[in-house]
Amino acid sequence: MNQGSEAESIEIHLVLEAIHRRYGYDLREYVPDTIERRLRSALARSGLRHFGEVTHRLLHDPAWFANLLDQLTVQVSDMFRDPPFYRVFRERVVPLLRTYPELKLWHAGCATGEEVYATAILLSEEELYERSQIYATDVSAKAIESARDGVYTQEQATAFAANYALAGGKRCFEDYVVSGYGRIAMREPLKKNLVFFQHNLATDYAIGQMNVIFCRNVLFYFERGLRERVLGMLGAGLGRSGFLCLGATEGLPEDSGATFGSFAPRERIFRKSGQA
Ligand SMILES: C[S@@+](CC[C@H](N)C(=O)[O-])C[C@H]1O[C@@H](n2cnc3c(N)ncnc32)[C@H](O)[C@@H]1O
Repeated sequence: MNQGSEAESIEIHLVLEAIHRRYGYDLREYVPDTIERRLRSALARSGLRHFGEVTHRLLHDPAWFANLLDQLTVQVSDMFRDPPFYRVFRERVVPLLRTYPELKLWHAGCATGEEVYATAILLSEEELYERSQIYATDVSAKAIESARDGVYTQEQATAFAANYALAGGKRCFEDYVVSGYGRIAMREPLKKNLVFFQHNLATDYAIGQMNVIFCRNVLFYFERGLRERVLGMLGAGLGRSGFLCLGATEGLPEDSGATFGSFAPRERIFRKSGQA
């Protein structure tokens, strides 16, 4: 924490403590500067005068807290985010996934679902979607609700279509959506094998025996201890030789070699080691 008085930094600590004790969400191990910045902007928007009032309000008003949580865990995503990642996933991971009769994939921290639909599109183009189950989770209930709806703005759709082409898409992005009133909705067949639910990476157990876990652009919000615990949990959730996909600026700690081997380092794709 680098701003404000000592008293205020105690108040911020108390906000995080109150969130943890009242609702079980542990934000105490998120990167302090990021969480403080978000708390300050939530305070500015709230009409409350200081963090003491934030603590009181969140303790007594669960609906208000749900809204605050969404502001503290920003849900920014994109479809085919980092196109080279999806290109390499298609070229190198998909051929190995073909050897399995059934596939289980997990998007952990899926925000509003863009990546989940990208994976569904990619797997259907590779004729693997019918044998796939994709679990999509996030700590934010509101994000999960909008991920399930799969509705985005026309402006987003333009960016999605550009990424889709760069990522090696085989058809036309418009084939996968219904457009109208300045919005797009993902077509229903793409939703068939998707399961959305709320899940907290900091406190909940892994969903097991996954062939692929995507946890992209989530871990960088966490302090080292939490990041390593979450990575351990994700490692436990992967089946033998399963793939772990991280965000472009994320990596594994140096001593994780017993659990994960490198597969496509530039694209941050790792593979669970044989014995792990
Ligand atoms: C920047 S978004 C990344 C979305 C997507 N994976 C991507 O790369 O485009 C980070 C997401 O992580 C979620 N998140 C933060 N803390 C979490 C936690 N403890 N458990 C599960 N999800 C969490 C946020 O709600 C947010 O939706």
